[in-house]
Amino acid sequence: MPKVAAVTPKRKKPPGPRQPPETCASPRPLVAHPAGRVIIVSNRVPAPSDKAAAGGLAVALADAATAGSLWFGWSGKRAEETSTVAQCITSDEGVTYATIDIAERDYQKFYNGFANGALWPLLHYRTGLLRFNRPDYDAYRIVNRAFAETLRPLIGPDDLIWIHDYQLFTLAAELRALGVQNRIGFFLHIPFVPPSLLQVLPPAIEMLGALSACDVIGFQTQGDVQAFLDNAILMLGAAPNAENCFVYEGRKIRVVLTPIGIDAKKFTLLAERAAHSADAKRMSESLGNRALVLGVDRLDYSKGLPQRFDAFGRLLYTYPQHRRAVNFLQIAARSRQEVGSYQTLRRELDRRAGDINGEFSDFDWVPLRYMTHPVKRNAIAGFYRRAKIGLVTPLRDGMNLVAKEYIAAQDPADPGVLVLSRFAGAADELTEALIVNPFDADAVANAMHQGLVMPLAERQARYEALAAKVNHTTAQRFCAEFLAYLRAVAS
Ligand code: G6P
Repeated sequence: MPKVAAVTPKRKKPPGPRQPPETCASPRPLVAHPAGRVIIVSNRVPAPSDKAAAGGLAVALADAATAGSLWFGWSGKRAEETSTVAQCITSDEGVTYATIDIAERDYQKFYNGFANGALWPLLHYRTGLLRFNRPDYDAYRIVNRAFAETLRPLIGPDDLIWIHDYQLFTLAAELRALGVQNRIGFFLHIPFVPPSLLQVLPPAIEMLGALSACDVIGFQTQGDVQAFLDNAILMLGAAPNAENCFVYEGRKIRVVLTPIGIDAKKFTLLAERAAHSADAKRMSESLGNRALVLGVDRLDYSKGLPQRFDAFGRLLYTYPQHRRAVNFLQIAARSRQEVGSYQTLRRELDRRAGDINGEFSDFDWVPLRYMTHPVKRNAIAGFYRRAKIGLVTPLRDGMNLVAKEYIAAQDPADPGVLVLSRFAGAADELTEALIVNPFDADAVANAMHQGLVMPLAERQARYEALAAKVNHTTAQRFCAEFLAYLRAVAS
């Protein structure tokens, strides 16, 4: 049985009451949770000190990480050997973060190879980019097994285990193989594909079977739920009932729709404050009277960035009145740079950005500002508030929380306009945005134009409808709904 080492957290300010360092070794929760402690498992774990700075998945899950809960995942460190010993830090709020290191050789194959070279393109409908080989898949299984072996001694009898995302599809099966009987839930943050696409993946059936070791499996959209059920019917012989429950290998699995959200109130406050920050001031000074069109993404081919650049070029070509009157800022934070398709994309964007600026720039105006280093969340919140147009045009996206953050950041007295891809999960809900097909550069250019000239009353009406939704389908609600489904499973 693997042992658990505890490390002392490094802190800038004096800590509050500290939990004993043997926390991780003990299966018992520190804070009593009659209905079971929540154990979150994700590949990335936010450093406790970075919680305010982190984005995406980590922020959305923060609400489930309440006192006494455990958050388990990869430390972000590549070591000589994959550890089977968790390193634990307990935050002031009483959340224990337990992490493992992954061996360099496993990491390359698990993360760059199978997770981001095969699963990510496939589940974003990009079979042409899929690179499959057996050693990568074997490493994926090995890392999932290492997660299970290291987590096993930390699990108490009534704990609820909530696994996140495509890096950990086979973890539940590994936990079951180690005798874990606890309720296990899985939530997929990215899209799921119909059988005609999933069957392209050689171990598709094995992976579906492994995932079905969970009690509850959650998705972002109704389309994803249906795609998963269609695969289960075809490849596992499942016969789902009206509640989307089916039985596989003697276990009942429930498939649920629980779209993710943001902490909208907190984000609105952040944006209000950020509007007066030094970064926001610098941005305003650099813009003068020009309107800001803003895109914020990871540098990822699923985000439709080359198409977005083309659409901006079409805007300037078709509507010359916007020349010198707008600036498009694209923040595309570098991501997964060891994967070939990401390197190719970066070169492609460099070229297209140069083309557009070469074509339309004047000696005192450069239309496109393109940056690939990450920007602080606080600064981004202020930029969202300043932007007349929020451009969220992925070719496929599970949800896209940038769309929700952009809305939450707006000034109700003078809101901007969201231009949103119909292929983002968020489009199911945010129907008052200007919904576009991201493959159609002219249609996206027209939507940008429509947003730039939209009268205040229409902008406000759209904003009010969207803000009501973003404030309703929050991160808190997402966590509560998913965990309610999981708690409802008979233990
Ligand atoms: C997406 C995925 C997450 C992932 C994140 C950052 O949001 O759904 O699981 O953590 O991208 O990607 P990275 O490869 O840097 O973890």
